[in-house]
Amino acid sequence: MRRLYVFDTTLRDGEQSLGITLNVHEKLEISRQLVRLGVDIIEAGFPASSPGDFESVRQIAAEIKGAVVCGLSRAVEEDVDRCWEAIKVAEQPRIHTGIAVSPVHVDKKLLMTPEQVLEAAVAAVKRAKKHVSDVEFYAEDAFRSDRHFLARVLEETIKAGATVVNIPDTVGYATPWEYGELIGWVMENVKGIERVIVSIHCHNDLGMATANSLAGIKAGASQVEGTINGIGERAGNTSLEEVIMAIYTQKGRYGVQPSIDTREIAATSRLVSRITGVPVPAHKAIVGANAFMHASGIHQDGVLKERTTYEIIDPEVVGIPKNKIVLSARSGRHALRHRLAELGYELEGEELGIAYERFLHLADQKQEVYDEDLHALMGEKPVNGSGRLVLKNVAVATSGQSQATATVTVDLDGTVITDAACGNGPVDAVFKAIERLLGCKVTLEDYSLRSVSRGKEALGDATVKVRVGESGLIIGRGISTDVIEASARAYANALAKARAIH
Ligand code: KIV
Ligand code: ZN
Repeated sequence: MRRLYVFDTTLRDGEQSLGITLNVHEKLEISRQLVRLGVDIIEAGFPASSPGDFESVRQIAAEIKGAVVCGLSRAVEEDVDRCWEAIKVAEQPRIHTGIAVSPVHVDKKLLMTPEQVLEAAVAAVKRAKKHVSDVEFYAEDAFRSDRHFLARVLEETIKAGATVVNIPDTVGYATPWEYGELIGWVMENVKGIERVIVSIHCHNDLGMATANSLAGIKAGASQVEGTINGIGERAGNTSLEEVIMAIYTQKGRYGVQPSIDTREIAATSRLVSRITGVPVPAHKAIVGANAFMHASGIHQDGVLKERTTYEIIDPEVVGIPKNKIVLSARSGRHALRHRLAELGYELEGEELGIAYERFLHLADQKQEVYDEDLHALMGEKPVNGSGRLVLKNVAVATSGQSQATATVTVDLDGTVITDAACGNGPVDAVFKAIERLLGCKVTLEDYSLRSVSRGKEALGDATVKVRVGESGLIIGRGISTDVIEASARAYANALAKARAIH
């Protein structure tokens, strides 16, 4: 069995998704969970891209132990140096530098000749090598490149000291047969390739990223790059959880062994979804809410007789524990703590007390509290665990033509205040009333509402993305059986975060 190195780029390529901006605390929280999951390399960001990204990478490098911390850099000397400045404190630092190699990128984007590209690639690797021994070179848009040029660039960058070479399908254009064939060709034809780790990096524009990655592994790659939940540019990157579980279920047929704790997959997926505000589709493989649900009578009958009739993965393997008790308003603190621990949330003391209060509030609204409700409850994290801004009451009156008036009461640093506003529909009225209460200028960038769990008392889970004044994007989440209250909670949650930052 060959060791398969898992390279997570949720915080770099994943963060490049439309509408995702993470602050340093959020990136640190995801990094800690990636270590629990057991990824080998965390690509923490692109330090030269902004001071904020530099600082996030630096803090992750300073804190994270037990995984390589990698920074991305263009093949430009200043970028490479800046990248090193950010990662040099890491226990295991890596610079990931590179340049595009396909004709369309070289001629039309870089406006360079192939010889200039080759020169820049070699110079960047040499510069990175001055700082650190672990240097990965990426040949952007490798799949659409001329093979002989690709081979030259890889040979020269290996000679210059690259320890890992990354062969991306940057635009998700490949199909599995072609991508596997390219990786096989590289393994056979590039001089010096046996001295380095070959890495694969696929995008999902044709929905093939997982299949292409598996084809690349089968053809000899020993490092796979991707993101949690497959988030990333356009249609996203390879979903690491899908590749890992495909290898796991195929039991040795790929001839590789990743060092991943699969029981952390569900918790990692939920954390990334909560922090990025990008929901996981219900039918998403491995981590979707319906991935282990059996709806039809024939399937339910089969699974009850023998789980493997319709289930290829035991949900417990990916961290979804079997549910043995149903929680309700009669359940005690101990039962809640026990179930939350099974779901991956270890709470004690004051944190448990706050969660229990919120659980009782929810259980009063619903007869039975399911696991999905608990995940939603934990996803609606109170800011600083305390009530700097607590929503106390929301009342809405609507009158024809979508006009609505909302009266909102909040506890703001211990003082209970109420205000009202009119709006274009109840949600708009509630948001305006909250803005009046806090006296701040808010730009709503995105608002979404989805239903969680089952039954007519299903929870509404609202997500808002806002900017407060000149702030970056702030994500707030709120849940309630009343969708207007859920929306109000999400808005208040985002504004509480904004207050905590300033
Ligand atoms: O898709 C790609 O080519 C990339 C590189 C920067 C590694 O993300
Ligand atoms: Zn990419």
